[in-house]
Amino acid sequence: MSFLSLTNIAKSFGPRSILHNINLSLAEGEFVSIVGASASGKTTLVKIASGLIQPDSGTVTVGGQSVAGFVAEAGMVFQNYSLLPWLSALENVRLAVEPAFPQWTKAQHTAQAIKYLEMVGLGKAVRKTPAQLSGGMRQRVAIARAFAAEPRILFLDEPFGALDALTRATLQQELATLCGAAGRPVTTLMITNSVEEAILLSDRIHALGRGPGATLSPGFTVELSRPRSAGLLMHDTEAVSLRHRLAEFLTSGAIAPALVKEVA
Ligand SMILES: Nc1ncnc2c1ncn2[C@@H]1O[C@H](COP(=O)(O)OP(=O)(O)O)[C@@H](O)[C@H]1O
Ligand SMILES: [Mg+2]
Repeated sequence: MSFLSLTNIAKSFGPRSILHNINLSLAEGEFVSIVGASASGKTTLVKIASGLIQPDSGTVTVGGQSVAGFVAEAGMVFQNYSLLPWLSALENVRLAVEPAFPQWTKAQHTAQAIKYLEMVGLGKAVRKTPAQLSGGMRQRVAIARAFAAEPRILFLDEPFGALDALTRATLQQELATLCGAAGRPVTTLMITNSVEEAILLSDRIHALGRGPGATLSPGFTVELSRPRSAGLLMHDTEAVSLRHRLAEFLTSGAIAPALVKEVA
């Protein structure tokens, strides 16, 4: 049974066709990644999936229900942090907790926000504002904010794209841990420009072709047990084979040269 479903999605901006014939289904609790070149329509796709913008044609359903407006019970993490600069880390997270748990007291909201900030290693920085935090720490706040609302669906749009490689690797691992520790199924759709990141975190990977009118590749299932680590995946035979199959697909189609370079 699919939990999140996109059927025959098409989207144009003016005369430019961006997405065409997009079909994608996520089972409850499944982690699916989409890799693609910049400007291929990835952000447009995740905005359509989350109900932030409407497709020209096609349907989006969550739990069998048609989506109208932003998907309730969804959490989002963007590349550019999107924190409110005048609020502390704690206040930024609490702002997402309050509407998710309207029946709670203020003290409960605060406790939940602190719990998730501690989980991403920011227990000592809860009073700091975004300007007082590094890029990696700001992204940790954004991840804590998304998880603290205990969403059933997570939309991640290049969540680590603005970070240096080391910070990126640490946060990938923390995200994997958070997903595993949630104690309930968190259906996740992640956009990334990194095949390695997709293999590390996903159950299934699709490539988004080049526009105009970009379409999705068939899914590549990631048959690797968890927990996974980037180090282990370097030499694991299944991971190596998957990288090869993705590389073959990417080089055979008109997909991003940058991605081909990474997996080659
Ligand atoms: N609101 C918009 N109006 C007009 N063009 C847009 C709009 N949003 C995105 N685009 C264009 O659509 C294409 C795909 O954008 P986007 O989905 O952001 O790509 P990606 O996330 O893969 O980099 C780009 O060429 C972008 O300039
Ligand atoms: Mg984008």
